[in-house]
Amino acid sequence: MDEKLVTWHQSLIGKDDRRKLHGHGSVMIWFTGLSGSGKSTIANALQQKLFEKGINVYLLDGDNLRHGINQNLSFSQEDRKENVRRVAEIGKLFVDAGVVVLSALISPFEVDRADARALFDEMEFIEVYIKCSIKTCEKRDPKGLYKKAHEGKIKQFTGVDQSYETPRVPEITIDTDNMSIEESVEILLTYLIDNEII
Ligand code: ADX
Repeated sequence: MDEKLVTWHQSLIGKDDRRKLHGHGSVMIWFTGLSGSGKSTIANALQQKLFEKGINVYLLDGDNLRHGINQNLSFSQEDRKENVRRVAEIGKLFVDAGVVVLSALISPFEVDRADARALFDEMEFIEVYIKCSIKTCEKRDPKGLYKKAHEGKIKQFTGVDQSYETPRVPEITIDTDNMSIEESVEILLTYLIDNEII
């Protein structure tokens, strides 16, 4: 894009004005982990808790977005990059709008997650690694996709014939092999309170 042809219009209302109106901070909480690790479940439970507390919160779920804005994307490495990029850009708009935004995408590649993080101010991007052994994910297999992947009916399946790069320095790690949903949500709430986001 030729930058000279497009001008940035400064809004008269800023992020801080919107945060003040809502009475809380706005951040992007980026859940990453294998399919079946518990990302959507924990993000949903956290969303509900925050909503009950009167927080403006919105969950961007990878599966759901692939029915709409991301429906033209496959699971190739290139398309996953674009998937992550779009969700990060959408998340950035939500943060600017003063909302606590959660995303639940596998987002398997470190470089794509780093690019997502780079869009945000420091402290605005909270990476949450939903840690779970592939063995447990395969056992849970809530959508029957691991079975299909092992039968060769789905290609490029994360953890089977495509890689998942473990986050090196996530803000929070939640081990769902050993932790309940309630405990997981509690850890996340404590983090948000301790860091004066809510
Ligand atoms: S991401 O890797 O691009 O971040 P995303 O979170 O949007 O993935 O979508 C993952 C979901 O798509 C999984 O939870 C699963 O339901 C479904 N899915 C279908 N095919 C695949 C595949 N090849 N690899 C991983 N997930 C897949």
